[in-house]
Amino acid sequence: MNTVSTLAALREQINAARLSGQRIALVPTMGNLHAGHMSLIETARQHANFVVASIFVNPLQFGPNEDLDSYPRTLADDQHALQTAGCQLLFTPTVEQMYPHGMQGQTLVQVADVSEGLCGGSRPGHFDGVATVVTKLFNMVQPDVAVFGEKDYQQLAVIRKMTAELNMPVEIVGAPIVRSSDGLALSSRNGYLDAAQRTTAPALYRCLQQSVAGIQQGRRDYHAIVQEAANQLRAAGMRPDYIELRQADSLQPATADSSELVILGAAFLGTTRLIDNIAFAVKP
Ligand code: PAF
Repeated sequence: MNTVSTLAALREQINAARLSGQRIALVPTMGNLHAGHMSLIETARQHANFVVASIFVNPLQFGPNEDLDSYPRTLADDQHALQTAGCQLLFTPTVEQMYPHGMQGQTLVQVADVSEGLCGGSRPGHFDGVATVVTKLFNMVQPDVAVFGEKDYQQLAVIRKMTAELNMPVEIVGAPIVRSSDGLALSSRNGYLDAAQRTTAPALYRCLQQSVAGIQQGRRDYHAIVQEAANQLRAAGMRPDYIELRQADSLQPATADSSELVILGAAFLGTTRLIDNIAFAVKP
């Protein structure tokens, strides 16, 4: 696996791959890779024969009081993991290469509606930062297909809508959430948890599961269901940011006759913010 960090070197490698007839997949990441990311690479390998991963901790998607500076940077381990997983090319641009004119005044991509509320409500500007850097990565790599994790459910919805509405010639593939044996969704931010917090953390998934079970048993009092889930989270020692039931495709609020739903949750454990979701079909 080659690692390149300039656009010129990236283009050279991509052009060679394209000239030899390869179908190109992109897996954008912020590094500190875990088994969840490896499943994205595996999915990419099923859709293409030349897999490019990017590692870029994108300042544009972090709020002023968020963890940009402390976000773990583990390049040597990541390179080893990507090589082992069968990735062909790693792109590691610097902030200066990604935003040569600085971030102030940078042209932004804003994806209407689906960026609002949920994580977009708690993290103003976050999805503008994500949509902008993903657009730049798409233009730099020009992949046939790009793979994103379903753990960041709203992010995936933002990217799907952006790609469709801006006619980007990239197929978007979502890859299922990878969980620890106790149910906790794998995330780079799990590394911030101390031992006691790590024991508590699976409560987020359990609360979402209980809510889904209630709906599958016929409950339709969605407001009460999410309130109960938030109370259970508090009882477990977490501070809920939001728990919401939405329509799985549009992310509009769930109604009694919606048949495809997603329950999404975000909660703090100390200063660490965890997110999770379960998409499901409502049994009539
Ligand atoms: O999900 C992530 O790791 C990031 O939001 C992404 C898609 C790489 C954009 O910076």
